[in-house]
Amino acid sequence: MRNHKAQFITLEGVEGAGKSTQKDALCQLLDANGIPYIETREPGGTPYAEEIRALLLNSSGEIPQAKTELLLMFAARAQHFETKILPALEQDIWVVCDRFTDATYAYQGGGRGLPRVWIQTLEKLVQGERIPDVTLFFDVPVEVGLARAGERGNLDRIESEDIEFFERVRRMYQQIAAHDSERVITLDATVDALRLTEEMMNQLTGRWGLTCRPG
Ligand SMILES: Nc1ncnc2c1ncn2[C@@H]1O[C@H](COP(=O)(O)OP(=O)(O)O)[C@@H](O)[C@H]1O
Ligand SMILES: [Mg+2]
Repeated sequence: MRNHKAQFITLEGVEGAGKSTQKDALCQLLDANGIPYIETREPGGTPYAEEIRALLLNSSGEIPQAKTELLLMFAARAQHFETKILPALEQDIWVVCDRFTDATYAYQGGGRGLPRVWIQTLEKLVQGERIPDVTLFFDVPVEVGLARAGERGNLDRIESEDIEFFERVRRMYQQIAAHDSERVITLDATVDALRLTEEMMNQLTGRWGLTCRPG
């Protein structure tokens, strides 16, 4: 049985790493254990924040400055965090979120080269001391991820960056994982989806004291 307060779980990794695929498997695990949860994503997660997402990812028209992009990410996050994530956790409902602030460190920090201290400042402003309890980092070589994502079709504005951008993103994710190995579980996402689910379950069931597995 569960022996934990409601967990705030985030999934991170470059495009095509397998976050959405494994999010479904994770939700099945929670269902099988009768754990109440919400599924959400960033940028977005509320109607207002989804409008900011559309602005951020739109690839036509005026291109936002990196600083504008950073501020919009946190504007969306402030809305999402205060009106959806925190209220759920306070009601003992788990939160499964596809990308969160690590993605800002990786994309706007690593990818765009914005100073880490700016992101830290905004993180404190928006989240106070609250960070995810568990972050699943799906690590995959950029070419592998992009090839998988490419098959999905239309790429958004950020997904259309060049390979060096995503290499910087991946390196930043790896650095975060190395510095915060208690919170961040790194998974080798080059393996097939079923095997990856198995690795993820091995890590999580032990950590949360769950016994029941889906399927
Ligand atoms: N472990 C895996 N091995 C091979 N292909 C995968 C794997 N996981 C997901 N895929 C496929 O790769 C594409 C991207 O996966 P997805 O879960 O959408 O990644 P993300 O959400 O990280 O962008 C999808 O077409 C999916 O079916
Ligand atoms: Mg996805």
